[in-house]
Amino acid sequence: MSGVSTNGSGPRHGPGEPPAILLQDVRFAYPGTRMAAPALDGVSLAVDPGERVALLGPNGAGKSTLCLHLNGVLRPQAGRVEIGGLPVRGRDLSEIRRRVGLVFQDPDDMLFMPTVAEDVGFGPANLGLPADEVERRTLAALATMGMESAAQRAPHHLSLGQRKRVATAAVLSMDPQVLVLDEPSSNLDPRARRELAERLAELDLTLLLVTHDLPYALQLCERAVVMDAGQVVADGPLRAILADEVLLAAHDLELPYGFAFPALD
Ligand SMILES: Nc1ncnc2c1ncn2[C@@H]1O[C@H](COP(=O)(O)OP(=O)(O)OP(=O)(O)O)[C@@H](O)[C@H]1O
Ligand SMILES: [Mg+2]
Repeated sequence: MSGVSTNGSGPRHGPGEPPAILLQDVRFAYPGTRMAAPALDGVSLAVDPGERVALLGPNGAGKSTLCLHLNGVLRPQAGRVEIGGLPVRGRDLSEIRRRVGLVFQDPDDMLFMPTVAEDVGFGPANLGLPADEVERRTLAALATMGMESAAQRAPHHLSLGQRKRVATAAVLSMDPQVLVLDEPSSNLDPRARRELAERLAELDLTLLLVTHDLPYALQLCERAVVMDAGQVVADGPLRAILADEVLLAAHDLELPYGFAFPALD
């Protein structure tokens, strides 16, 4: 763990309110890989309701593996994962998946229906909600992501940035408490990148943002967790982490050339 820690910022959830995300000493190795070098090697993390946390770290650090544990796509071989106090386990998976919206890096892994509206309404329809409620949620989620005019279009006719917004809408239509975004800004042009950030900034939920794009993280998050080799190596205010050149260099984190942010108070 680096010198940057959460000490001082402290947990902000109210008395009796469980963390939105809790991992305790989670270990996970992919089948067929060496248990000596697991993808997650004793990860502990608590995120309060409403917190916005950037998850940073070099390629192969374990960031995506961690995300896949948050809605039970992967299950820990040791340790514990809880969402809002509810353990991620077989019999609660449908409730966990309602609480946690996970947007994959590639939107094409999530969009498979003939129209945008059908993709965004797919989750609510699967919950067995009545058709008018499915439609209400679909329109609301599309409006939140600024994609309502594309409702009847085929997802594969949209740009990558538009498809990312539709994939995010498809998750928001489930009314999640926690939104997990894996590399939302990668491969977006500057305008699509900015538009997505503006939409995300307005959302009132717990956000875990996996990114290599440090200015993007700074725009959206107050706190950062840095992972490397399956372990959390730093956890603290994002600005303090971005100002720690030794920490950034040790974990292959690079600010763009000439990047400057206002001095810390
Ligand atoms: N499906 C898989 N099968 C086997 N090993 C995997 C699999 N997916 C990831 N890994 C390995 O697990 C480790 C963690 O990978 P992960 O994808 O979680 O890293 P990451 O931090 O998301 O990296 P990136 O920034 O490149 O997306 C790496 O060593 C990776 O090679
Ligand atoms: Mg990844």
